[in-house]
Amino acid sequence: MLAAVDPESGEKLDDENMIFQMVTFLIAGHETTSATLSFAIEFLLHNPDVLKQAREVVDSVLGTETPRFEHLQHLKYIEQILMETLRLWPPAPAFTVRANKDTLLAGKYEVTSREDIIILIPSLHRDPKVWGDAPDKFDPDRFATEQAEKLPPNAWKPFGNCARACIGRPFAMQEAQLVLSMLLQRFDF
Ligand code: HEM
Repeated sequence: MLAAVDPESGEKLDDENMIFQMVTFLIAGHETTSATLSFAIEFLLHNPDVLKQAREVVDSVLGTETPRFEHLQHLKYIEQILMETLRLWPPAPAFTVRANKDTLLAGKYEVTSREDIIILIPSLHRDPKVWGDAPDKFDPDRFATEQAEKLPPNAWKPFGNCARACIGRPFAMQEAQLVLSMLLQRFDF
């Protein structure tokens, strides 16, 4: 960010903007990612088969190397563990929306444009119509490519909604994938 220049305007971030960015990182970007990692480790401890598979993936992809960006695509199973963790315990557990105009939702819920609707993400993420009879079960295979492609849009929203969705999502996922891989590489839990 210190070095980046807008390719069109040639502008750089001034000092005040840089301070805003640092505060954003601290507030929006620290607790969320660290909570995700804490929950992921808790889930791994309760699911030894998943933990075993995760270590096998990390050992075969990384060995003793320090992970680099190129490794990430081969650590897909670690990403699946994080996505399943974010499904069950999203660290930012709600977001709010408001209808553009008075609306009848699903033919039965009257919603006015003056009301806020709070979406509780842990409930959304446990809908048996989407996640089956055991929605509380921790199962990273739900996010294996073939199964993930069958999920309806909007079934998984730990990063919020639409235009106001999390701008830090790719950064957070990369950071968490790297950290969890390195923890699995170096520590017994
Ligand atoms: C696992 C990690 C993260 C989760 C689960 C998460 C979740 C969310 C959610 C749910 C929202 C929408 C809030 C709403 O609509 O009320 C949001 C917005 C936002 N997040 Fe994240 N976040 C994460 C990491 C980060 C990181 C690493 C950064 C920055 C470095 C970041 C910066 C932001 C910002 C700036 C917004 C507001 C975007 C806007 O309104 O345009 N987040 N995040």
